[in-house]
Amino acid sequence: MTTPNNIPPPDINYYAFDTYQASAQFLRNRLPPELQAIQIGIICGSGLGGLAKTLEEPICEVEYKDIPNFAVSTVPGHVGKLVFGMLAGRATVCMVGRKHMYEGHSLLRTVFPVRVMRLLGAHTLLVTNAAGGLNPDFNVGDIMIIKDHLSIAGFGGCNPLIGANVDDFGPRFPAVSNAYDFDLRVTAFSCATACGLGPFMREGIYAFVPGPSFETRAEARYIRNAGADSVGMSTVPEVIIARHCGMRVLGVSLITNIVPQGHGRSAMQAAAELEPPTASSPGSVSSGPDVAAVMKSMVKNVVEAVSKITEYPHKNDEKVLANHEEVLETSNKRSQAMQELVRLIVGKIPEPSKQ
Ligand code: HPA
Repeated sequence: MTTPNNIPPPDINYYAFDTYQASAQFLRNRLPPELQAIQIGIICGSGLGGLAKTLEEPICEVEYKDIPNFAVSTVPGHVGKLVFGMLAGRATVCMVGRKHMYEGHSLLRTVFPVRVMRLLGAHTLLVTNAAGGLNPDFNVGDIMIIKDHLSIAGFGGCNPLIGANVDDFGPRFPAVSNAYDFDLRVTAFSCATACGLGPFMREGIYAFVPGPSFETRAEARYIRNAGADSVGMSTVPEVIIARHCGMRVLGVSLITNIVPQGHGRSAMQAAAELEPPTASSPGSVSSGPDVAAVMKSMVKNVVEAVSKITEYPHKNDEKVLANHEEVLETSNKRSQAMQELVRLIVGKIPEPSKQ
């Protein structure tokens, strides 16, 4: 199955290598000599854009709206930009303001900057995100190093590699069973211990959902039962594209909220507690009451009862709801620690030739 989001807009040819080359060349023309060979690409997740502020001179910022073929945000006031600079001695580019499928962009459009980062030289991609915690051992503020992913949206046909393969980037059928680099994960845990984040560190499986609505409780249980530890609306398409063009990947989820998974209170039971049902045999379809007539009078009774309700005594049975404010609040609280962690990790990444 292919969704409309797999169909890129006709104005830009996302299946042509030249399209990516043009954007990369545009950026090269603006970069100082020290930043001509980028080593590390970083995607800053929700509320984690502060990472870009830790880059050191020479700094070069370019807004997406000025870069040929880049998607601009559909959210008013959300500036998207690439910030180039030095981080722990490595020429680095930070993507501040990522694009999501739920904004209405085609998936290939959302991952476009990753291929451009590769063309600029980046051999390693650090992807950060805000995610909901599914694992009952997780707490808000935990940092989960991604060891694998579950593309729930992918099962529905949302994969950025659908469509003509761009052979210059990678093969038609790339393996992703080893998408999250083991050595980088070990490095991440060592660095976390070094900066005092040890007790908050987790390792787990990230599930990708399309959003923008958060999960129902039944969906959350389904995703948890399938093996996921956290859930979010990004990262997986970018990781697939990065692996396709041979980049090493480290994925880091900040657990910004705990996803409700309870079964909720049974309304049937609550009603029975108010008014115990009379014991009577339901009978068979032929011998029992006229179901259509009963349904008709029941609907009438319900409408009458609803129109008389002045208060809802049972209230909402689920008090904990996922919300974007909580996501941003947690990201802000942890942003300093995340920045320090990323800086330490980047400082430990060897150049490919020295591995
Ligand atoms: N669900 C999906 N995406 C998210 C969540 C969540 O609970 N939190 C942050 N991103």
